[in-house]
Amino acid sequence: MGAGKNVLLIIAGGIAAYKALDVIRRGRERGLCFRVILTRSGAEFVTPLSVAALAGSKAYSELFSLTDEAEMGHIRLVREADLVLVAPATADLIAKMANGFADDLASTALLANEKPVLIAPSMNFVMWRHPAVQANVAALRARGVATVGPGAGDLACGEVGDGRLAEPIDIVNAALRLLSPGPLSPGPLSPGPLSGLKALVTSGPTYEAIDPVRFIGNRSSGRQGHAIAAALAAAGAETTLVTGPTALADPAGCTVHRIESAAEMLAKVQQSLPADIAVAAAAVSDWRPASEATQKMKKREGGEPPRIELATNADILATISAPGPKRPRLVVGFAAETEKVIEHATAKRRKKQCDWILANDVSAPTGTFGGADNKVHVITADGTEEWPRLSKTELAERLVARIAETFKSAKS
Ligand code: CTP
Repeated sequence: MGAGKNVLLIIAGGIAAYKALDVIRRGRERGLCFRVILTRSGAEFVTPLSVAALAGSKAYSELFSLTDEAEMGHIRLVREADLVLVAPATADLIAKMANGFADDLASTALLANEKPVLIAPSMNFVMWRHPAVQANVAALRARGVATVGPGAGDLACGEVGDGRLAEPIDIVNAALRLLSPGPLSPGPLSPGPLSGLKALVTSGPTYEAIDPVRFIGNRSSGRQGHAIAAALAAAGAETTLVTGPTALADPAGCTVHRIESAAEMLAKVQQSLPADIAVAAAAVSDWRPASEATQKMKKREGGEPPRIELATNADILATISAPGPKRPRLVVGFAAETEKVIEHATAKRRKKQCDWILANDVSAPTGTFGGADNKVHVITADGTEEWPRLSKTELAERLVARIAETFKSAKS
């Protein structure tokens, strides 16, 4: 998909610099070519040798190096790039970009650049929230610089918050999106183990309207469902994502339908069937207000709160799993539990008639909702498997690898 596109990757000096190596690896797998500038502080975290080994070309560092300039001047580095990617983008380099500093090879190249720029910020969450950093990022965005992440989760400094570098695959997908002409065309990214199969994924929360301004919702970020849709598309499946409201970008290569309520999600899911694989990762609201007020509800005399009568929403996973000509060959659900996780999830799998259920303990202090990681037990008709705590991207990839294995053994 990225065939022949040249990315100039600038690796700045942050603890997440090591993840830039995975960006190179995954980007090359998807056909991108890399030239790399490693800032002086970036070279404290990863070596020019490891960068060169993965990128297949030398890592440039020095502005005033005669060999570097003779081989590849800073102007040529940006002229020959289709996209400049800064990952990790530190507070310092973001400040230099926002203010036009040019005191090393990276900042000079960025100032001499007219190509699209994508930055993947990474820093401690207090730094990320600092008004100076936010103002610099806002100035860059106003100039058309695209951003990916940062995400929320455990930070290298031992604290938890936003400021975590986006996952390498999400950075690569954001780069591919910027490199594709016009809006990203849906469709499988490349041939893969799931080529020729159709997949359907639900993700995010649903919002159930009380009146034109209020709703019942939940804390689901959609990160797990979106990561699964991205991984299915990356494995070659023709993937449709039906998602509730989230702050996430559309995963590359998927047809995306955005809905709000459970009823809208069910309607889109039914329209999107048949499919070979369905993964229900959405946190669908179990109830909705029995009727939606047409006007904003006003406070009553005497302060009496209104009573909201609830009606039960249809179970989308159970509807997909019900026997019938459109039932997918493999239906995977999630079970969010706060106690007796395996027992409840096993009963849920039977009741909803899905093939696999991924059970997670949503009472865990690290939390699953909104976080960057997930820890699941995979429950099938054959038993229960415990998976280690993984990033949501890694979990998605492991699930898709498992799905691919199942379809492969079904074929042979
Ligand atoms: N689900 C669904 N439609 C609903 C409710 C849940 O498709 N109306 C799906 C979810 O996407 C998930 C699975 O069912 O794959 C389990 O969701 P969960 O919230 O754990 O269970 P509930 O069915 O809501 O049961 P309970 O709240 O009683 O645990």
